[in-house]
This record gives sequence, structure tokens and C-alpha cells, in this order.
Amino acid sequence: MSKKESTPKIIIAIDGYSACGKSTLAKDLSKKLGYAYIDTGAMYRAVTLYFLRNEINIESEAAVSSALSKINIDFINVNGKNRTILNGEDIEEEIRKMYVSQYVSPVAAISAVRRLMVAQQQKMGEKKGVILDGRDIGTVVFPNAVLKLFLTASPEIRTQRRYDELTQKGQVTDFEVIKSNLLERDRIDSNRADSPLKQAVDAVVIDNTNLSIKEQLRMVQVLVKERIKTLKRNK
Ligand code: CDP
Repeated sequence: MSKKESTPKIIIAIDGYSACGKSTLAKDLSKKLGYAYIDTGAMYRAVTLYFLRNEINIESEAAVSSALSKINIDFINVNGKNRTILNGEDIEEEIRKMYVSQYVSPVAAISAVRRLMVAQQQKMGEKKGVILDGRDIGTVVFPNAVLKLFLTASPEIRTQRRYDELTQKGQVTDFEVIKSNLLERDRIDSNRADSPLKQAVDAVVIDNTNLSIKEQLRMVQVLVKERIKTLKRNK
């Protein structure tokens, strides 16, 4: 067996607050490791977009359940970039817009929505060699993940990063509007009854307020190597 074949593939769970660089880290790491990347936030955003477009009353269990049965979410790779597909339509750009961000947390708090998304995420991850980022990956979706990270950064830095991201895409948004959206989502996500955002007891916490993207990536690569080494040793 070659060295590569004998290297065990693991599941990496990245959780944390809104806009603290989870997806940037997950994307870079997936390239370095040759792992698949699953952006679970994109799935909740896709459901939200469907609900908004079809004016689904989220107070009605029947309406939510009927809408969920009509939703199909896929990820495809176009020129090395992840694209989110909702019922055959590429919605990657649309789901990042502010009107979706403003509605996503109440939708993600609905248990029927979570049950469906979590089941799909577990299926996508069952082959291992996968990185998932979200809010409940290390606590609910893959509680046995070999490496769990919990990212955090100051609200100011997170707002600045999201502001820069949206501005680059030509979506001019007020700094304070972004900041209050991030904080409001953190509040709803952390306080919902079903699988709230929280740190898994065995997660490694990284505050990246003062870390560059490269520094953080290097730090996590070391953790991955260590975990894989331990796995091999304990085989
Ligand atoms: O990129 P950002 O951190 O702003 O958000 P995201 O990862 O795209 O997630 C959008 C929203 O989806 C979150 O605010 C949560 O309400 C919800 N979400 C969740 O409930 N569980 C997950 N595993 C991922 C996202």
C-alpha cells in the first residue's frame, strides 16, 4: 500500500459565530488536504431563499413540511469553486445577499428544517475525508469528528470582513446594518431550542481576531497532522 493510501481520512468540524472565517478556512483546508467541503450554512440559506420566494408561512408546520418536500439542494464544483444549487438553479450569489441573511436564523431554528439538513449532511460526510462548517457540526451532525474547531473573532473584525466581502461583490451595505445582523444571528443561533450554536467540549478554540488567513491555516494543518498521527498510532 502506498503512503497516501494508508493515510486515514477524517471528518473535520468547523463551528463558530457568524462571519468569523469558517468558510475561508474550510475552503483552503479542503484544497490542501484534497477533502470535500460542505458549507452547511449555504444549505440553510438555500431553504430560506426558497421560503422567501414562495412566501412560506414559517409558523405553519404543514406549509413548512410541504415546502421542504419540494426542495433539493446540491453542491457542484465549477472551476475549483463550490456552487450551491437549489432545484437545478445556481443560487450561490443570491443566498449571500443581505435579505437572505436577515431571514435565515429564524428558518434555521425550525426543527423540521434542521432534521432534513442534518440527515443530508450526515449522508454527504459518511465517506470521510470531508470538512463541514456550520453551527452544530461538532455537537450534533458529527459528534465523533476527529478534529473539531470552534472559531471566534471580535464583532468589529467580523463586521469589517463581511463588509469588505459584500463591497467587493458590489453589494453596498451599511457597516452598522451588517454588524447588527451578525449579532442578531448569533443571538438567535445561540438561543434556539434545537441544536443551538455552542462550543463542543472537545473543540479547539481559535480566536482569529489577530491571525492572518495563512497563519490560521498553518495552525490548523498542524492540528490535522497531529490527529492523523494519533489515529495511526492507535490503530
Ligand atoms: O457565513 P456566515 O457565518 O455569515 O453564515 P452561514 O455559515 O452562511 O450560516 C447562515 C445561517 O445558517 C446561520 O446564521 C445559522 O442561522 C444557520 N446555520 C445553522 O443553523 N446551522 C448550521 N450548521 C449552519 C448554519
